[in-house]
Order: sequence, then structure tokens, then C-alpha cells
Amino acid sequence: MQSKRHRHYALVPAAGAGSRMGKEIPKQYLDLLGEPLLRHTLRTLCQAPMIDRVYVVLSVGDPIWNERDWSDLGEKLHPLYVGGATRADSVLNGLRAIRGDAGDGDWILVHDAARPCLAQWHIDALISTLDDDEVGGILAVPVADTLKRSNGHGRVEKTVPRDSLWQAQTPQMFRYIMLRRALETAREVTDEASAIEAAGLHPRLVQGDTTNLKVTYPLDLHLAEWILKNREA
Ligand code: CTP
Ligand code: MG
Repeated sequence: MQSKRHRHYALVPAAGAGSRMGKEIPKQYLDLLGEPLLRHTLRTLCQAPMIDRVYVVLSVGDPIWNERDWSDLGEKLHPLYVGGATRADSVLNGLRAIRGDAGDGDWILVHDAARPCLAQWHIDALISTLDDDEVGGILAVPVADTLKRSNGHGRVEKTVPRDSLWQAQTPQMFRYIMLRRALETAREVTDEASAIEAAGLHPRLVQGDTTNLKVTYPLDLHLAEWILKNREA
């Protein structure tokens, strides 16, 4: 029934150094079940029927990408060697690089390379919830633990009510022009939604689950392995 639908482009920032992981190579290239972590992330995005293209933002002169074979992921995949000093810079550089491919009204799904356990249902939930939304939104999970604010000296200052607190994940899905303008204006942000919020808008929260974890520390790699293994079973 859709006459002209806007396209959906995934943009995957993968230009980080992975310093908290403490390994010799950036974490996106670490082995996860026999292949680079990044391949799991990209495969899920490339296999999503609603996603038209998958752009992966690599650091300028990334020496590892070309040493691996990505051809089985198909023609949707496009590397961009335009990574910046921060995640926000990498995303903005990627958005600038795809100008011309992406129309103003096309949807951009920004997804961390370091979240390899993204599942098809996460993408489906996000796109089906947001496709008619005026602002866009993010995958997120309600906070489950009781939260304490520290007094800075190892003691509790106070308990923070968790009622309306959510943990932000990715993908974060916004229209090309809205996201680009927001990021051009708000450079000191750790996610796309923060830039949209700074523009006075209210991104929608789409409930995901904690399996879509970000691999940050060595333990996370083991958790990701467990999640992927048990999903396959
Ligand atoms: N990222 C990026 N460009 C940067 C920094 C980060 O594209 N200049 C990407 C990372 O590759 C990752 C995502 O943003 O996929 C989330 O960032 P994070 O988990 O912080 O990864 P790193 O910055 O690589 O790790 P660390 O902060 O431990 O160095
Ligand atoms: Mg980082």
C-alpha cells in the first residue's frame, strides 16, 4: 500500500580505539565466535529487509578493514573512511559523506559497531514504531536497579528515583536532515538523541532488551558470546 516510502539507511560508527577493552586491536575487530565482532553487527543490519544500505564509518586509513573479506555481506555494505575524534564526529562525518545518497526525509539508523547482539526483532520494533513519527526515537530499556548518587567520597548522597529512567541503546533512528542539523549544532553529545533533545524535541523511547549490550570491557565479550550462542541454539 506504500506509494513512496522513505528509505532506511544504517550508519555504523566503527572508528573507535576500544581503549577500555585494553587489547592491541580495536574491539570491533576482536574475535567473537570465530569472526570479527563487527561482522555480527553488520550482518544483522545487512539482512534486515527494511534497511536499504549499511554505511560503516571507519577511521581514516583503517589498516584492518581491507585485510578481512566482507563480500558475503552483499551489496548493501559501504565503508566510509571518515572517522573523527569522537563518536559524534564520526557520525556527523558519515552523514556528510552520504549527502546525495540520503534524501532529507530518509531515515538514518545510527548503530554502534560495538553492539554485535542486535537482533532482527530490535530493528523491526524500532522501524514499525517510528515510521510515521515526526521526531524519531531510540531503542532503550527501563532501568531495573535502584540507583544511588555518590557524594564523591564513596558514600551515598541520595537514592535517585528510577521510575521514569531508561538506558539508551542503539539503533537511534532520525530523519537525515533533522539529525544532521542537530549534530552540526550540538557537538558535545554522546548519542544522537541528545542532539535532537538539545533542539527541543522529544525522541520516542522504543523498548528493547538487555541482550543488545555494548561491548566495552573484556567481560562484555564473554556475555556477547553467550547471548549469540544461545540465540542460535
Ligand atoms: N566510535 C567512533 N569514533 C570515535 C569513537 C567511537 O566511531 N572517535 C564508535 C566506536 O567504534 C563504537 C561506538 O562509537 O562502535 C561506541 O563507542 P565506544 O563504545 O566508546 O567505543 P570506543 O570509543 O572504541 O571505546 P573506548 O571508549 O573504550 O575507547
Ligand atoms: Mg569511546
